[in-house]
Amino acid sequence: MKIILKILRRKDAASEPYWISIPYETDEAEFSVASALRAINEDTERRDVNGEPFEPIRWECSCLQKKCGSCAMVIDGKPGLACDAMISGTGKERTVTLEPLKTFPPVADLIADRSSMFEELKKLKVWSPGGLKLSEEAEETAYDASRCLQCGCCLEVCPNFHAGGSFAGNAALGPFTRLLAELPKKDNKELSASYSKYVFEGCGKSLACRDVCPAGIDIDRLLVHSNAIAVWRRKSAADKVKN
Ligand code: SF4
Ligand code: SF4
Ligand code: FES
Repeated sequence: MKIILKILRRKDAASEPYWISIPYETDEAEFSVASALRAINEDTERRDVNGEPFEPIRWECSCLQKKCGSCAMVIDGKPGLACDAMISGTGKERTVTLEPLKTFPPVADLIADRSSMFEELKKLKVWSPGGLKLSEEAEETAYDASRCLQCGCCLEVCPNFHAGGSFAGNAALGPFTRLLAELPKKDNKELSASYSKYVFEGCGKSLACRDVCPAGIDIDRLLVHSNAIAVWRRKSAADKVKN
């Protein structure tokens, strides 16, 4: 199969981006974006469609098994993971476009600086103390929530998320929901207040994030679970004020 990879390149954060078109040919009937990028970079004779040599494409990867989230990028206009996005033949030569996530500051080529997302999660302190006894329902919710890769794909399509802003977006939904499911109600007062402030209040509930999660997390269910706790908390606070 023959494809053209059209990649948005930039030398560094301060440089202007530009497109490069790279031909890629393989005997495989189906292959991942990650395997195409690796093969292109390993080719010492690499040339673009005009026959010009070029430097290896910079992109991030670690697990290559849809487990670490580091290879998140925009593939054919939609955020996804390079190691998960499969390209299969249509019989015709086709073009696949690759761009870095645009929600975060650019670093180089397909690498974006997602550190603000990780810093925000650290600041929110949404990690489990462990050793908690869970009901079957809480276990199911906590398990689904724990599958979040913190890839940032959901943030790329969220109209309300801005890197460094106060709304933490859905990358924080998983850790928050996991902890809200695990902690007994009496111990989650501070956590539910924090969820309200950093997720619930900023979320427009448009669900644009629902269809892009590469981990297949049931975002609707997690939102319903944690929003119910946030609404319950607000209602009890309002009732206290009335009384
Ligand atoms: S529901 Fe809408 S506003 Fe809320 S996190 Fe998803 S995309 Fe963003
Ligand atoms: S919710 Fe899904 S898309 Fe968003 S950061 Fe977690 S794994 Fe990625
Ligand atoms: S390299 Fe880890 S998710 Fe793609």
